[in-house]
Amino acid sequence: METILDIAGLTKVYPGGLKALDGVDLQIRRGEIFALLGPNGAGKTTLIGAVCGLVRVTGGTITAFGQDLAHNWRDARRRIGLVPQELGFDMFETVERGVRYSRGLFGLPPDAARIEVVLRSLSLWDKRHEQIRALSGGMKRRVLIAKALAHEPELLFLDEPTAGVDVELRRDMWRQIDRLRDQGVTVILTTHYIEEAQEMADRVGVIDKGRLLLVDEKDALMAKLGRTEARFRLAQPLAAVPDSLCAFPLHLEDDGLTLAYRGGDGAGKGKAEIAAIAQALPHQGIAYTALDQKESSLEDIFVDLVEREEAAA
Ligand SMILES: Nc1ncnc2c1ncn2[C@@H]1O[C@H](COP(=O)(O)OP(=O)(O)O)[C@@H](O)[C@H]1O
Ligand SMILES: [Mg+2]
Repeated sequence: METILDIAGLTKVYPGGLKALDGVDLQIRRGEIFALLGPNGAGKTTLIGAVCGLVRVTGGTITAFGQDLAHNWRDARRRIGLVPQELGFDMFETVERGVRYSRGLFGLPPDAARIEVVLRSLSLWDKRHEQIRALSGGMKRRVLIAKALAHEPELLFLDEPTAGVDVELRRDMWRQIDRLRDQGVTVILTTHYIEEAQEMADRVGVIDKGRLLLVDEKDALMAKLGRTEARFRLAQPLAAVPDSLCAFPLHLEDDGLTLAYRGGDGAGKGKAEIAAIAQALPHQGIAYTALDQKESSLEDIFVDLVEREEAAA
């Protein structure tokens, strides 16, 4: 698959010495949706700023559309859109003029039809003559997206597109992103909502303290690191895990009343093992009154990873 963006050894040290990016290597493929996941202060906005020419990098290279940005950023920049984390625009501007202006900034000729398509796709057409300041927070965020799409970018950055927006708008945003995918736009979004990455992304990268801890297909990541957990509540306490079940990753909790299972591979093995245990218990004369089961989410995986990283540091 074609690499649309190639980041190699990217380092950013801010004045004062804070290392916000520490040797980041990342390749983005054309047409994918890539979620960059990380806690506050991880370096996500700095990484985006570096690609968009807003942050002067300390070391490393960024190649976009085959061009080294250090030598030729103008062409590449024209093909990149950015929806920034912070809402910032001329509040007295009307929606339509603001979006037209953004297109003009990139040196493109006016194109009323294109602007209409963008505004309609974001349900902003009816509001096109309103001043931006009169809009709700969610609508303002849509204007930001419209402005980022006005020059028809092939690669779109969305920096925390749903931070602080309500659930409904978040779902709406996800639909927008799906639509962009259908149009062939490559999307890189940052988020600290795991659910968002789980829902939207083809691939996920986890960043913490300026270092990319891993990059993988979302499904592979879930399969590799995913675990199934189950708790059997027993009718009578046991003294130990029965010998016949000791091949399974089972653990008897202190009260003797809970058999806890944690295992599997995120690809169905856990469920199968739990079913086998559930069948075996009555045969051993062990009754249970309840069974809770859950698959670990990307959230658990992410917390695990960051904790492991912190323990190693
Ligand atoms: N202009 C700046 N000057 C100094 N430090 C900065 C600046 N911008 C960001 N930082 C620091 O760099 C680190 C990464 O910030 P940022 O890229 O905004 O992280 P994220 O977007 O993942 O929350 C943080 O510790 C932040 O405080
Ligand atoms: Mg940020």
